[in-house]
Amino acid sequence: MPDESIKREIAELRERIRYHEHKYYVENKPEISDFEFDKLLERLKSLESQHPEFITADSPTQRIYDGTLEGFREVAHKVAMLSLDNSYNFADLAEFDERVARTLGLSGEEIEYVAELKIDGVGIALLYENGLLVRGATRGNGTVGDDITHSVRTIRSVPLRLRGGASQIPPLIEVRGEAFISLKEFERINREREEAGLDVFANPRNSTAGTLRLLNVREVATRRLDTFIYTLSYCEGLHPASQWEALDLMRSWGLKVNPASRLCRGLSQVRAYCDEWDRKRHELDYATDGVVVKVNRLDYQKRLGQTSKHPKWAIAFKFPAEQATTKVLSIDVQVGRTGAVTPVATFAPVHLSGTTVKRASLHNADEIGRKDIRVGDTVVLEKAGEIIPQVVSVIKSERTGDERPFQMPEHCPVCGSRLVRPEGEVVVRCVNSSCPAVLKESIRHFASRAGFDIDGLGPALIEMLVDRGIVKNYADLFRLRKEELASLPRMGEKSADNLVAAIERSKKVPFNRFIYALGIRHVGAFAARALAANFSSIEGLIAAAQERCVPPQTELGVLTESDKPAPGGPRPVEGTSDMFEAIDGIGAIVGASVAQYFCLPSNVNVIEDLLDAGVEIIYPEKKIAPDEALLGKRFVLTGTLKSMRRDEVKAKIESLGGRVTSSVTGQTDYVVVGESPGSKLDKARRLGVSILGEAEFLELIKSRK
Ligand code: IVH
Repeated sequence: MPDESIKREIAELRERIRYHEHKYYVENKPEISDFEFDKLLERLKSLESQHPEFITADSPTQRIYDGTLEGFREVAHKVAMLSLDNSYNFADLAEFDERVARTLGLSGEEIEYVAELKIDGVGIALLYENGLLVRGATRGNGTVGDDITHSVRTIRSVPLRLRGGASQIPPLIEVRGEAFISLKEFERINREREEAGLDVFANPRNSTAGTLRLLNVREVATRRLDTFIYTLSYCEGLHPASQWEALDLMRSWGLKVNPASRLCRGLSQVRAYCDEWDRKRHELDYATDGVVVKVNRLDYQKRLGQTSKHPKWAIAFKFPAEQATTKVLSIDVQVGRTGAVTPVATFAPVHLSGTTVKRASLHNADEIGRKDIRVGDTVVLEKAGEIIPQVVSVIKSERTGDERPFQMPEHCPVCGSRLVRPEGEVVVRCVNSSCPAVLKESIRHFASRAGFDIDGLGPALIEMLVDRGIVKNYADLFRLRKEELASLPRMGEKSADNLVAAIERSKKVPFNRFIYALGIRHVGAFAARALAANFSSIEGLIAAAQERCVPPQTELGVLTESDKPAPGGPRPVEGTSDMFEAIDGIGAIVGASVAQYFCLPSNVNVIEDLLDAGVEIIYPEKKIAPDEALLGKRFVLTGTLKSMRRDEVKAKIESLGGRVTSSVTGQTDYVVVGESPGSKLDKARRLGVSILGEAEFLELIKSRK
């Protein structure tokens, strides 16, 4: 293809992708499937990789900076980022309204306000130069914030290029808004963190702030941040007359503006809005902590001015923090996948922020001691970030003397083995790796969506399978027979059939999900992806870990029978983490945990068992480990390459230890495809042989001697 037509195709693809990104991420009205969208993006990526000279910073492929930042630069805001004065009741609001009217000389008249939801996230400022996103910053202290351009670029609702031609877009624009994490995403992140043994975020705002501060941009991208933009803070040449017009203008540029904003005539309409959203906010998929009331006309805003901290033309109406009181009926302990033993309180059911609360984690014995929570106590509950119920305090005046303090058990309530509190940790653990509670939770993790994704294998069924001794390890899942399942209570023929089919389907599992499913401590979905991207096979990963196995410093009692050294045989081992730490996206704790995991023979057995039971790991196509890439591999060439003659290609492959053969068979490793390929390409597709385009082939040989 001549360069001009490639350039045109690239431009068209970018337009289409931007259009669909807007439909999906801003308007929430997708017009095409994810699959079709991914196809467009893949096509663009492939054209750009062949023609890097056409890559531009605003291309939809360029959202993710490929690397780790050193830190954040500080940036001075063009206009100070103020905060808002708060009000907690309608009397405060009425006072605000009167003050506004008085200052404007409009006492007794109805002022026009814009009422907006107050999004509970992190304030950000975005700078667009000639329609291109050039900078993203946090609020910081209001005058100076952190440069978070790389993080902001990963947010799919933030356009890298504004919509509209040069005539509609002023040369320099700054907008402000809120970056946030949806409640669903917040739960997903916390679930993954919990499963990986990391601290969970207390609320979505903390998780947003924590995410924006990550130096690894690829990890930021996995967190799926979102935005609402609500202020046009700087705009050269265009002067909307009101906040309402500014919202419209920003919407027309493709920025995500909250659809719940409302133009209100007078205070009574503002009140109605506050009442309405205090009720309806629980239906939203993001956290709001109030309503922001803004004088609509911008000339009025200017006349009203500001204090050193707040504008005088706006006020935040905070929704009352919802609390409830209830009685603690019991405190039990739960054993998690990592063996962590967590005290959980059961309450007399009580309604709080849209749901009925019956149970809440009390975290650990220290926390219970600090708050002095006893069985029989009346406690005040609040939802942290409107989501996770927490005990705020005990109403001690309600005590009768019959309350019973909580005592952490010394033995695991499930398997009876002695609990251990590792030095320096607040968590108490059951370290018996065959404890049924640990097994059940491990299987739940194994079968979860981010793991083997086995449809229909829920907690109740897992419980039954483990309790009846039918499933004693992961591999047993793949040996389940239909008849066996159908004979279980509440399991019909049909569900047994479906489950067997789902298990069968799950056997083909992508490498990253396989790693995730193993439940290695500290390895969540992100670390699993990083490992999968850096090793060509599970065998390679195990070998890499085992090369670095060293005798353990301490034995924590986590070794199982099969790990115990045979008399006179080799000692059990631990891994050093240095090589894992070198992987982008893997830190010291994760690295050590991975090394340790693969150095335990029983864990390697688990993997061998799975492969024996028919699990097939799907490795990412064309992902080639250095040095292993060409050695002994069989290549078939079809079509003409632009950059090399056929005899040169052959010589190159052979010089790197590969072989070139003439026909495609099941033994062929790669088919290299140039222009006008022949039937060999079809055959390669039929046989599922890896196909390399010219660019991919050049990439493969480039880094090698
Ligand atoms: S306007 C001059 N509108 O609330 C103040 N702020 O407590 C301009 N916030 O720092 C802010 N939703 O981060 C505005 N619809 C909204 C908002 C909003 C959330 C945040 C913002 C601000 C904080 C003030």
